[in-house]
Amino acid sequence: MNAVPTPLAAASTSGADLLLWVAVPYICLAVFVVGHIWRYRQDQFGWTSRTTQLLEHRWLRFGSPLFHLGAFMVIAGHVVGLAIPDSWTEAVGITEHAYHTTAVWAGSVAGVAMVAGLGMLCARRLLTRQIRLGTDRSDKLLFPLLSATVVLGITATAAHNVFGAGYDYRSTVSVWFRGLFVLQPQPEAITGAPLLFQLHALSAFLLFAAWPFTRLVHVWSAPIGYLARPYLVYRRRSAPTAAPTTAGRTRSASGSGRAA
Ligand code: HEM
Repeated sequence: MNAVPTPLAAASTSGADLLLWVAVPYICLAVFVVGHIWRYRQDQFGWTSRTTQLLEHRWLRFGSPLFHLGAFMVIAGHVVGLAIPDSWTEAVGITEHAYHTTAVWAGSVAGVAMVAGLGMLCARRLLTRQIRLGTDRSDKLLFPLLSATVVLGITATAAHNVFGAGYDYRSTVSVWFRGLFVLQPQPEAITGAPLLFQLHALSAFLLFAAWPFTRLVHVWSAPIGYLARPYLVYRRRSAPTAAPTTAGRTRSASGSGRAA
């Protein structure tokens, strides 16, 4: 437990709270770590996004970039909102008002992109026969869990921070979240949070537990090196030349050589 006394520490914690806000998250994180090691050792050839681009590309062309762009923005927002204490952002001159306004606007854009993209990915999976037939048990777990997490997240933001009176999750949900990773769990920090935030956090942890057994493992193998790799140089294949004379060698070297 936290050695530093806080007002939150005064709140009582029941067995159910300990189960939901300490045991379940740690079990999910353990499954996340051990599951990845197991999958890597057992199934390196299956470690892919299992793309269905060849089966359907019209929806994928829009749905995939929209979903991934939204996801990158949401991840960045979560790192700032959950991992960085509000005292730190205030210390560098970001006021609570500035943080809140940016979080609501950027979070809403990111959330809408993610929902729209994920909606398209789910729709093509349901509506395209070949993709539906290739949908396995891991997909049947992943897509509903991912959708629930994203929809609960954006609903919590909309209900409380866009249309509602505003909810300062950085002094509750974020405190609970950080407590888990510094091994000083503070379940009492989240027990009073609105239900939508609680459900969102729980479904996110279930998603972490399912992660290693799904196509989400491709996240750790994204070909980021492609962004900086040198260009591949292609040259037109030349017609087979006659006897290798000195002149012929000179022609080949001058530009119409084999593909590099
Ligand atoms: C335990 C982990 C997580 C916690 C504690 C958490 C917490 C939160 C909180 C507090 C918000 C409200 C942000 C605001 O109103 O400004 C939020 C929003 C959101 N979350 Fe999460 N989240 C977690 C994991 C995830 C995951 C894994 C996903 C996606 C797969 C996700 C997707 C979203 C989305 C789409 C929103 C709405 C857009 C936004 O405000 O960024 N969250 N989450």
